[in-house]
Amino acid sequence: MLRTSVTGITFPNPVILASGIRDETGHSMVRMAQFGAGGVVTKSVGPVPRPGNDLPALVEVEGGMLNSMGLPNPGVDHYGEEVEVAKGAGVPIIGSVFGPDTDGFVAVAEKMASYGVDAIELNLSCPNAQGTAISFGQDPDAVKQVTSAVKAKVDIPVWVKLTPMVVNIVDIGKAAVEAGADAIVATNTLMGMTIDVWSQKPVLANTTGGLSGPALKPVALRCVWQLASSPDITVPIIGVGGITDWKDAVEFFLAGASLVSVGTAVYYEGPEVFGKINEGLQDYLDRKGCESIDQIIGKGMVE
Ligand SMILES: Cc1cc2nc3c(=O)[nH]c(=O)nc-3n(C[C@H](O)[C@H](O)[C@H](O)COP(=O)(O)O)c2cc1C
Repeated sequence: MLRTSVTGITFPNPVILASGIRDETGHSMVRMAQFGAGGVVTKSVGPVPRPGNDLPALVEVEGGMLNSMGLPNPGVDHYGEEVEVAKGAGVPIIGSVFGPDTDGFVAVAEKMASYGVDAIELNLSCPNAQGTAISFGQDPDAVKQVTSAVKAKVDIPVWVKLTPMVVNIVDIGKAAVEAGADAIVATNTLMGMTIDVWSQKPVLANTTGGLSGPALKPVALRCVWQLASSPDITVPIIGVGGITDWKDAVEFFLAGASLVSVGTAVYYEGPEVFGKINEGLQDYLDRKGCESIDQIIGKGMVE
């Protein structure tokens, strides 16, 4: 049986849609659920409308893609109707939010929660307008501050999504857990770039972008494994990064993830990817004589 419960939320299966892919509108989220997504994470929404970065903002590279979308979104005040439509999907809806500073995060999270989402996901891979050029997610103090401020104001689970671009991901995860995070999501993209040799210019208008897809998988898997291996990480982990088929998903469960998210593979494989991964997972559990996904979580850890 693929049905599972994470942070008190029941998912019909453990394969959900990652933030930012085919989730701009309520209707696109409903469509992903119809194709078998066990839950959907909304596009990250901020306090005000943002057009996003100049084009091209998406390019294929070896093993995946680079995106420099720049968090385009309609602003949280205009997002209520999308959540309302998305709720018709009948699967849990996770509202992804970001802000320029702690107060901004709190205001957006409160508004998103008021729309009736099942949990909030904090996208900490955005620049911290309060401090230096580094993102919130690279600074344990900022992670702690934002997480505890949001936890104090919303009464639904708060998931904290981490960037892999840190020296020690466990330190960052620990800061989130200490601040009351209900789950850790690992990971967001890795920064990369590509140059067109004929124009001799970067392909992305923004020069750099986030690497996602299969090339990210070993890095994200290592992050999940490190987090799951730490006695300080006492909350569930949601694995994301390059999951394309059921075997990738199984690797993440074995490394200690309780749920997985799929993003880039939806571009490559279409929304059918959710059904295919779920079929493969069920077959794997049957062959291994397991009745639920819980029986394989963390099984790949060194005893
Ligand atoms: C086009 C694109 C847009 C994304 N937008 C967001 C976003 O708005 N918020 C966020 O937290 N992550 C965003 N991500 C990151 C994904 O949610 C995910 O963490 C990452 O792509 C790794 O998973 P994948 O390899 O399955 O895509 C985006 C990724 C892509 C490719």
